[in-house]
Amino acid sequence: MKVLALSEQEVASLLTMEETWEAVELAFKEHALGYAQMPPKVYLRYVQYNGDLRTMPAYLERLGVSAVKVVNVHPDNTKKFGLPTVMATILLIEPKSGQVLSIMAGGTITAMRTGAAGAIAAKYLGKKNPIIASFIGAGVQARTQLLALLAVFPSLQEIRVWDISSAATEVFVEEIRKKNSKLKTIPAKTAEAAVKKADIVVTTTPSRSPLILNSWVSGGTHFNCIGADAPLKEELDPEILKRAKIVVDDWEQASHSGEINVPVSKGIISKRDIWATLGEIVAGMKTARFSPDDITVFDSTGLAIQDAVTAEFVYRKALEKKIGSFITL
Ligand SMILES: NC(=O)c1ccc[n+]([C@@H]2O[C@H](COP(=O)([O-])OP(=O)(O)OC[C@H]3O[C@@H](n4cnc5c(N)ncnc54)[C@H](O)[C@@H]3O)[C@@H](O)[C@H]2O)c1
Repeated sequence: MKVLALSEQEVASLLTMEETWEAVELAFKEHALGYAQMPPKVYLRYVQYNGDLRTMPAYLERLGVSAVKVVNVHPDNTKKFGLPTVMATILLIEPKSGQVLSIMAGGTITAMRTGAAGAIAAKYLGKKNPIIASFIGAGVQARTQLLALLAVFPSLQEIRVWDISSAATEVFVEEIRKKNSKLKTIPAKTAEAAVKKADIVVTTTPSRSPLILNSWVSGGTHFNCIGADAPLKEELDPEILKRAKIVVDDWEQASHSGEINVPVSKGIISKRDIWATLGEIVAGMKTARFSPDDITVFDSTGLAIQDAVTAEFVYRKALEKKIGSFITL
């Protein structure tokens, strides 16, 4: 079996945010319309190493796209081993024969498709012309969240960053200033200072206790909650969720491991409190924002369909540009 192998650098050279975002938006729609098979992620927990491993299969029937991703989350990796927190490998499968077409690094795809989902959510749920975006967490995911928001919202003027590590905050702020000299970029002293009066708040930490309190949040704010993607993780005060229109990427995954998982397990919110899935909004099956004062929350756990469509796009482009190397398995 000949398989196209693609390294992280090769994948990164083939992917733009605009293309990722188009592919991901279509995937959400196909999912909502019932044309995708996607069992919830399966987890292995490496408790003694503060890490976990997930497998994520998906098949988009009308698009003829199928893939399986294997991905870890080890928040101490950078400190301990100089490795990223999240590392991933994707197998792209040909549905008609079941053969593997490609094996590719999935770190860039994970970050890009997660950024794309955040921007899609903010576009449908948030204010039309947001000015202030705040980042709680300044790691890998924060960067692609920002990249995607800047692609969707030319109106953004101010970026605020807060991370538990002030060094991480400073590095991200400097990076943003270098690339976007027109933006006012502020290293916030506290999470509260970052969040107050922000139009969009993006959370990308592995926190297991709320970082953002209800009393800091004014009407009209949109939250992209990205960091909570495993049981017990949470970044928002549940009181914010009670005030908000909550949109999940997938109920099964979100209730088990997303931003809502802890409040759901404590009975603070339930399925009745979920307004829609992002796919239902994208497909026009549910309306998004009603009033400028609505608080909206997108609970992102990360869907296998996002990886599958992005990987398939990378594969087609790699064949076209003759990038990567064929290996025999
Ligand atoms: N929803 C999704 O689709 C999706 C996709 C990828 C990763 N994730 C999750 O996003 C989170 C971040 O991933 P990453 O790749 O950016 O990791 P990263 O290690 O690159 O960045 C995480 C940042 O959060 C900071 N941090 C850690 N604990 C904090 C706390 N309590 N308060 C404030 N800041 C804190 C760290 O200092 C670090 O800068 C992880 O929980 C990961 O599982 C979600």
